Amino acid sequence: MERRNFLKVSSAVLAYAGFFSPSSVLANEKKPLIGFKQIAPSTSDSVIVPKGYEAKKLISWGDPLFSKATPFDESKTINEAAIANANLVFGDNTDGMAWFDLDEDRAILAVNNEYMNPEIMFNHNGKNMSLDDVKYEQNSVGVSIFEIAKNSDGDYSVVLDSPYNRRITANTKMEIQGPARAHNLMKTKADKSGSEVYGTMNNCASGKTPWGTYLTCEENFDDFFGSSDENYAFNPAQKRYGLSVKGENYEWKLDERFDIAKNENEPNRFGWVVEIDPYNPNSTPIKRTALGRFKHENAEVVIAKNGEVVVYMGDDEVNEFIYKFVSKAKYNPNKPNKDILNEGTLYVAKLKDTGDFKGIGEWVALEYGKNGLDSKNGFRNQGDILINARLAASIVGATPMDRPEWIAADPDGKYLYVTLTNNTKRTEVSESNPRAKNIYGHILRWTPKGGNHADSGFKWDIFLLAGNPLKYPNDLRKGTSNINIENMFNSPDGLKFDKFGRLWIQTDGKYSNKGDYEGMGNNQMLCANPITGEVRRFLTGPVACEITGIAFNEDYTTMFVGIQHPGENLANSHYPNGGNSTPRSTIVQIRKKDGGVIGS
Ligand code: FEO
Ligand code: CA
Ligand code: CA
Ligand code: CA
Repeated sequence: MERRNFLKVSSAVLAYAGFFSPSSVLANEKKPLIGFKQIAPSTSDSVIVPKGYEAKKLISWGDPLFSKATPFDESKTINEAAIANANLVFGDNTDGMAWFDLDEDRAILAVNNEYMNPEIMFNHNGKNMSLDDVKYEQNSVGVSIFEIAKNSDGDYSVVLDSPYNRRITANTKMEIQGPARAHNLMKTKADKSGSEVYGTMNNCASGKTPWGTYLTCEENFDDFFGSSDENYAFNPAQKRYGLSVKGENYEWKLDERFDIAKNENEPNRFGWVVEIDPYNPNSTPIKRTALGRFKHENAEVVIAKNGEVVVYMGDDEVNEFIYKFVSKAKYNPNKPNKDILNEGTLYVAKLKDTGDFKGIGEWVALEYGKNGLDSKNGFRNQGDILINARLAASIVGATPMDRPEWIAADPDGKYLYVTLTNNTKRTEVSESNPRAKNIYGHILRWTPKGGNHADSGFKWDIFLLAGNPLKYPNDLRKGTSNINIENMFNSPDGLKFDKFGRLWIQTDGKYSNKGDYEGMGNNQMLCANPITGEVRRFLTGPVACEITGIAFNEDYTTMFVGIQHPGENLANSHYPNGGNSTPRSTIVQIRKKDGGVIGS
């Protein structure tokens, strides 16, 4: 067993020279792709970047987007004014984000505010939640959209009162479009038409379309629901989506809308990809049901050879799946492409092994009347399939993965990489998910057959297995040979390519720095060369944070990185303001002191 594992680890390294030929961008690069000196792991309560770089705060939870807002209140008094104010400031738990150009020195940032930490947000540490507290929370999640402008010193600042500034919360009116619009399972007491819904939440990662809109992805929506009836009988679909009496104990059921016993269809209206036009602050966000309902991580958009819009998406839960949507209409760069995501086909990935750490795959359509998706299996129409996409995907034999998080396309749009963050519940292994009780996570990549993203075939291999070679030098837990005691980490999550072909990896892992995680320190960000497999640590975050969310300015000389929930579970963090201040989720802006391209 040990010898086989050793051989497998070696062969994973060989794969770099296998079917993945260098992209044209990389082939033209004369200098080494990664130019900075790796930093050490850290347990300090600060953001550390390599020598020659600096990281500064752009915005933190509670910072005003409008001049009439009051700045962050350390007394944490919750009253009507505080609830209204939460709608005028940057939301909590910054996550996926995207940059939208305005002009040379100005841009719009659209940023997800995934959830909140009641233990930090309230004086009672979330132990004595009132309806007012819930309302405050509902205004603290969703999406923040704001203009930023470059100062004379080259740093960016938030432009207060910009006409683009906007908060989208768990109470913002939005439209439901696509095949599940007006479906019976989407109708509630408040919305008998099944076509209008209030709010978005658990906005994890995101996507950006070539036509200039933002895709925000709803992930762990089940956390916020609960049931006032402790004996509520959850059906198999509700159970598969994680709904329960207590949820994650957020007590949003104090608001009847989030009480399943009183509003059993409301959870069906969450778990979607929502499209927002950041350039039009009066636009109505639209839930695009053709892309399926699950716990969406991000939405990576590419254009197929013949012009179809293809959206790759992961469902982040143990043993859930990877999906893609292919539009019916073709993308036209000279048109608004407004509702192009309303019609198309949703597919789910089935992976087959062909050798050590590699294989082929097939995209199977989740279409009514095909592949067993009919009344015999409980599906009466396409809406049923999209609302309960997980159930449909299981019926067609999709491959259960180790928690698919972000998917990133390389700059040529040829290869897709996906972070499989960890899966301590895995018992059966395969070449694509090769470790039982996978505590460290891995990154897998694929390329579509014939370079055509609309094709149903693909080839895949494993790019890296994270691991701890210090602790477990003799089995697969040591990771692939590009992981060593200097650069080790666990639980890759955020993932994005820059236009030069560097692969940026962010972690949401265990930060105990003990036992299995000894030597890894706080959550961090790394940079990989996809051709050689080399991985270097670029950033370390403060105490008990997750690093998530990444965007660049147009010339890649400023990088924006999200520092989510420093000090969660009341860990000892006062990031970013120090002293005795409340730890606050923050976006930092990173520049190279010589003004060069980040990572070069
Ligand atoms: Fe919100 Fe799967 O991370
Ligand atoms: Ca994530
Ligand atoms: Ca995660
Ligand atoms: Ca998180």
